[in-house]
Amino acid sequence: MEQKVHIFDTTLRDGEQVPGCKLNTKEKLTLALKLEELGVDIIEAGFPISSPGDFESVSQISRIIKNATVCGLTRAVQKDIEVAAEALKYAVRPRIHTGIGTSDFHIKAKFNATQDEILARAIQAVKWARNFTDDVEFFAEDAGRTDDQYLARVVEAVIKAGATVVNIPDTTGYCLPHQYGAKIAYLMNNVPNVDKAILACHCHNDLGLATANSISGAINGARQIECTINGLGERAGNTSLEEVVMVIQQHKHLGLFTNIKTQMLNPLSREVSETMRVPVQPNKAIVGANAFSHSSGIHQDGFLKNAQTYEIISPDQVGADGSKIVLTARSGRSALAYRFQKIGYDFNRDDIDALYQQFLIVADGQKEVLEPDLIEMAKVHLSANVTA
Ligand code: KIV
Ligand code: ZN
Repeated sequence: MEQKVHIFDTTLRDGEQVPGCKLNTKEKLTLALKLEELGVDIIEAGFPISSPGDFESVSQISRIIKNATVCGLTRAVQKDIEVAAEALKYAVRPRIHTGIGTSDFHIKAKFNATQDEILARAIQAVKWARNFTDDVEFFAEDAGRTDDQYLARVVEAVIKAGATVVNIPDTTGYCLPHQYGAKIAYLMNNVPNVDKAILACHCHNDLGLATANSISGAINGARQIECTINGLGERAGNTSLEEVVMVIQQHKHLGLFTNIKTQMLNPLSREVSETMRVPVQPNKAIVGANAFSHSSGIHQDGFLKNAQTYEIISPDQVGADGSKIVLTARSGRSALAYRFQKIGYDFNRDDIDALYQQFLIVADGQKEVLEPDLIEMAKVHLSANVTA
């Protein structure tokens, strides 16, 4: 039986922390509705105590979202939790996401405290939050660099205090996939009450490993992945939603599934990029402009014979515009013939041989050969043949 991985979208909270990406309430509401339509299980709508504007956004999102859980972030501080509860009070499914740093860096440098003091604050925060909702998620910030034995003590204690989800963030994106997977496996095997809660992956991308780490976490038993559209988030970003969802869909042997409507991935990526004013890198997996473009002659020839030779996902599966055969100086004859055909010129092999020499001269002089260039080449070729 396949097991569900809950998709926790934090585009509106961790994603929105990117400098220049701040969203107003109207923009947050529009995106929240789209995220719900996409099929995410949990929308982290904001950090209610951080500003009156964010409180208002979380409050309004709570009123309009009917199917997804709406979540608000807090520190392990009573006032934060009360304010979050107030912002979430109209939600059909409210979740409070509270937590505290558990690595020595956080315990010593940030809090000047001891492990036992942090443990006590963690338990207290979960208990406060449980006064307002049955759905409480605890995050052990910098869990990626937290000693496993201490982390297991914290996880056990917060579950006992009432946490229903425990988030194991690799806050600094430090872990390697096998290390992060081993951390989740350690907790699954050493926390006696772990079956009473879901473990969540929240991986940052400082070393470009966020997707790999999240998948490694899921393989080892985590059943929630925290992610953002286009991988937006602090510094190098968070795990990209579109990537983890498609890894899970492509690798059925993992025995996992999500509820995401994958055809919405490209349109929503564009909308988030425009709203947050952050362009998507062209080579970004799943949603980049080149994700389905083929430019070298060897690839184009294989692709034109059978798309699966060079594409493991079809563009319509993820709502992309379609595969593209791009003409550059590295392209081959079959691609040239294909592109001529697409604009109505059915040249035979001898024609293409002749045109290809002309094409290479043009292609060497520019980045890409475009439709007007092809039309010009076709006209010259046809008139030369008529004259001859
Ligand atoms: O990266 C992190 O640790 C976080 C927590 C607040 C969940 O974003
Ligand atoms: Zn984060």
